[in-house]
Amino acid sequence: MSQSFDVIVIGCGPGGYIAAIRAAQLGFKVACIDEWKNAAGGPAPGGTCTNVGCIPSKALLQSSEHFEHARHHFADHGISTGEVTMDVTKMLARKDAVVKQNNDGILYLFKKNKVTFFHGRGSFASAADGAYVVKVTGAQTADLSAKQVVVATGSSARQLPAAPFDEMNILSNDGALRVGAAPTKLGVIGSGVIGLEMGSVWRRLGAEVTVLEAMPTFLAAADESVAKEALKIFTKQGLKIELGVKIGEITNGKKGVSVAYTNAKGEAAQLEVDKLIVSIGRVPNTQGLNAEAVGLKLDDRGAVVVDDECRTNLPGVWAVGDVVRGPMLAHKAEEEGVAVAERIAGQHGHVDLGIVPWVIYTSPEIAWVGRTEQQLKADGVAYKAGQFPFLANGRARALGDTTGFVKVLADAPTDEILGVHIIGPMASELIAEAAMAMAFKASAEDIARICHAHPSLSESTKEAALAVDKRTLNF
Ligand code: FAD
Ligand code: NAI
Repeated sequence: MSQSFDVIVIGCGPGGYIAAIRAAQLGFKVACIDEWKNAAGGPAPGGTCTNVGCIPSKALLQSSEHFEHARHHFADHGISTGEVTMDVTKMLARKDAVVKQNNDGILYLFKKNKVTFFHGRGSFASAADGAYVVKVTGAQTADLSAKQVVVATGSSARQLPAAPFDEMNILSNDGALRVGAAPTKLGVIGSGVIGLEMGSVWRRLGAEVTVLEAMPTFLAAADESVAKEALKIFTKQGLKIELGVKIGEITNGKKGVSVAYTNAKGEAAQLEVDKLIVSIGRVPNTQGLNAEAVGLKLDDRGAVVVDDECRTNLPGVWAVGDVVRGPMLAHKAEEEGVAVAERIAGQHGHVDLGIVPWVIYTSPEIAWVGRTEQQLKADGVAYKAGQFPFLANGRARALGDTTGFVKVLADAPTDEILGVHIIGPMASELIAEAAMAMAFKASAEDIARICHAHPSLSESTKEAALAVDKRTLNF
């Protein structure tokens, strides 16, 4: 006999747990299933984001940045320290405690919202009379049924066939967050978001980091001017970034990992490292779902096929987050989770994938929303650009962090903001104003006419908006 619910959510990452909470707020009886286990075998809701993604990576970025500041920048403020050392074990324990706070927070929120949590794997068993039976196996076993099912099973790191993850020497994001001591030499394959964030953490802690990237251009998804500035800064910080490489044989031995590759000039080269992070993108998690049992349609990458509103080919079955098309970002997954819960309730949930902000939490941070200058050119859009350097911002000078700039791109005939690109201090926070402006279809002049607090980094966004009309006041 199955337990009956209005909505079953499979997967408890940011897409799933937020969908479950919103559905419960709307009055539905909701079950959420997740198989992630903590070190003690207990439930660890929160998915990739909480356990081996956004949260632990930001904890390590913060710790390593404090370390770097103490070693290299405190003296500028007149602060002298003795020898500054890093206890990596303590840093990792702090990171684990932050993760646990988030796991516990989700279980608390489920209790508060009366969402029933099942710890185990959820897989489709059958469909009859418009309802689906989902089997839970693993730590808990149960048969659940509901007319509405939300698939939010997320993604996993893509492996190189020649170099399977052993999480000792060849590391996915999971192993990269658990290295017990800073390696002397660290290799990274893929100069995407994970490669840059995790490469930065271990570089700050003393590793000599080499990043091997297949593409001839650095950070191709970012605005070209931002990517160019970032490459210059990261190289100066000590990250060795080689573009346009072709990875060959990888040997995982007792002493470390040896990577044979062809460099951009076509020459054979070899990289010897203690640890190798492979961060070459992620693949959707659909293997455990038993999608065939109900005829759920997957594409050739294994992603669940959905329309613009996250509807699958099956009535009442939805899918959100990393397991579907679109950027693999926690906030995108959350927005889709909310929108689906609202659609189930007959409301009009909406997610605009054109204004999902991106942030790379390196130092300086990189953030953008909307289209890049190269995209606007490719789309044949007439645009105006305004740029303002943090060097000319009083707060940035007081902080002692004047790297980078804010760039605003606006439609030439209407002045509507089409993209905002930031490299510099607290770009992750500054980008929210730009996303809000774009959601309200604001013009550059709208931002330029809003009173921004002084001294604040946000004045740089206002000045960049003024620069669109060639009338900056402080530069
Ligand atoms: P997930 O978070 O992957 O959650 C899916 C859950 O479903 C998992 O718990 C999984 O165990 C469970 N599951 C899968 N199959 C089943 C099944 N059959 N039964 C039961 N449970 C199942 N994004 C950002 O926006 N900002 C960041 O700073 C950021 N940093 C990141 C850093 C790293 C190192 C990584 C790897 C990713 C980062 N991301 C970041 C991306 C972010 O983690 C994902 O976009 C986000 O977690 C996707 O959410 P989701 O709910 O779709 O899937
Ligand atoms: P990514 O897609 O960001 O970058 C992968 C990089 O690897 C690309 O530059 C690609 O050209 C390169 N690559 C692919 N195959 C290669 C090969 N064989 N040899 C050499 N280079 C190769 O993927 P990444 O870094 O694994 O991250 C996955 C996703 O996780 C991100 O796209 C993002 O969606 C999410 N994420 C988000 C973060 C954030 O929001 N701050 C932080 C970390 C991850």
